[in-house]
Amino acid sequence: MKFFVDTADTDAIRELTELGMVDGVTTNPSLIMKAGRDIKEVTKEICGITDGPVSAETVATDAEGMIAEGRELAKIADNIAVKVPLTWAGLKACNVLTNEGRMVNVTLCFSGNQALLAAKAGATFISPFIGRLDDLNLDGMELIADIREIYDNYGFETQILAASIRSANHMSDAAKIGADVATAPPDVIKKMAQHVLTDKGLEGFLKDWASTGQSIL
Ligand code: E4P
Repeated sequence: MKFFVDTADTDAIRELTELGMVDGVTTNPSLIMKAGRDIKEVTKEICGITDGPVSAETVATDAEGMIAEGRELAKIADNIAVKVPLTWAGLKACNVLTNEGRMVNVTLCFSGNQALLAAKAGATFISPFIGRLDDLNLDGMELIADIREIYDNYGFETQILAASIRSANHMSDAAKIGADVATAPPDVIKKMAQHVLTDKGLEGFLKDWASTGQSIL
């Protein structure tokens, strides 16, 4: 499973990219607002940090507007994936931008039917939002499983990009189901390394080592 980092914080992207942990980046208007930077300037910087797809989201609500914004965002760098919402207009824009040879990430997906339409429209990525479904006491992970089944039934090549990831468990669950990509905030990616038994075990080893009086270097 590929890891995308879901942030417009360039320091965090740089740190994870240098560790080889990042295969791409996703942003959205809220993350751009959080970064407090100009969308084109910060997106260009991100595209210089990673060679992988960098999702930049359109904000128009009509297809023509999304297409125009998508073309403009795609000028930033070759690795831009234009992000459009899963509306009828978004599907139309996806189809046009895909036919122009651009990567398109269809976002805000909350049902198997929506994912099916995105694949028919030629999306490069479909972004089902796990956490926002869980927030409503629905099962976000079940949606990932449904989309995996639907896409595998028909050999759709649209990549399932598990989004709205809120915990380390979401990452392993998405990987078990077979999501192609998961995008998560930097702190969630770091939390994947944590285990209480690792901390406890290390503490014990270091205590015993100290009592030997030895040093390795
Ligand atoms: C994905 O592309 C979105 O930017 C993101 O995962 C949304 O996550 P949230 O529901 O935590 O805001």
